Amino acid sequence: MTARTAIGPVIHVRGLEKSYKELKVLRGVDFDVARGSVFALLGSNGAGKTTVVNILSTLLKADAGTAGVHGFDVATQAADVRESISLTGQFAAVDEILSGRENLVLIARLRHLGDAGRIADDLLARFSLTDAGGRKVSTYSGGMRRRLDIAMSLIGNPPVIFLDEPTTGLDPQARLEVWQAIRGLAEAGTTVLLTTQYLDEAEQLADRIAILHEGRILVDGTLAELKRLLPAAKVEYVEKQPTLEDVFLTLVGAAGNAPTSEHASEDRS
Ligand SMILES: Nc1ncnc2c1ncn2[C@@H]1O[C@H](COP(=O)(O)OP(=O)(O)OP(=O)(O)O)[C@@H](O)[C@H]1O
Ligand SMILES: [Mg+2]
Repeated sequence: MTARTAIGPVIHVRGLEKSYKELKVLRGVDFDVARGSVFALLGSNGAGKTTVVNILSTLLKADAGTAGVHGFDVATQAADVRESISLTGQFAAVDEILSGRENLVLIARLRHLGDAGRIADDLLARFSLTDAGGRKVSTYSGGMRRRLDIAMSLIGNPPVIFLDEPTTGLDPQARLEVWQAIRGLAEAGTTVLLTTQYLDEAEQLADRIAILHEGRILVDGTLAELKRLLPAAKVEYVEKQPTLEDVFLTLVGAAGNAPTSEHASEDRS
């Protein structure tokens, strides 16, 4: 294995630029992600979030700038980067015909890991999919699919995981399930970079939040730091109304075992 530094940020991005023909998508993107933290890259449709993730996961080459992941340079040490990461793309990559367990066993075998069955069973348990493990994925809800997708990307214990819009198209319950799974990753010491268009998702999950806008990182900080960018909150006395999400979750039931067939399906927004 190539030498790498164990200290410093696990993801290090400086001056990243990328254009598609005339379209300048990234115009000098800089950020760092600390080891074992959750970093959220926020941005509107077309801001360039997937482009950043694809460059960091070596699927795409930047036009300029540097990026290091787990101490390896994405341009010159791509194979080492790939060994250190997993990518869960914007569109679920699970095989519909296979069962959840078969999907996991397949990936474990492809990665030449011994005892693929045990690895699959461990991951099913970790993502509360044990009962559904034997069923075809085509019968899974969107949230179950997403959790399986994330479970698949953990095979081989990569230290860094990229989640591109992990909850887009999911209903509030399924989103909570996926959030739980992502929190578990961070607690286990995995570094997570996720992209999202949902402000509340970043608020809920991220240690640091960066907003990608017009090709650059507009702001980057903890939630508290970002909130300080706005004028101090005025003290007002109002009755606190439940949010729509509170109402939805109270009526539908926020706790665990949601009905399995009624979640919204994955959809490109
Ligand atoms: N292969 C490509 N060829 C040409 N243009 C592209 C290509 N890939 C992305 N783009 C353009 O680059 C811009 C950034 O795309 P990107 O997919 O990175 O955005 P995003 O922030 O992930 O958006 P979304 O929230 O919709 O997923 C968009 O304008 C998109 O149309
Ligand atoms: Mg995208």
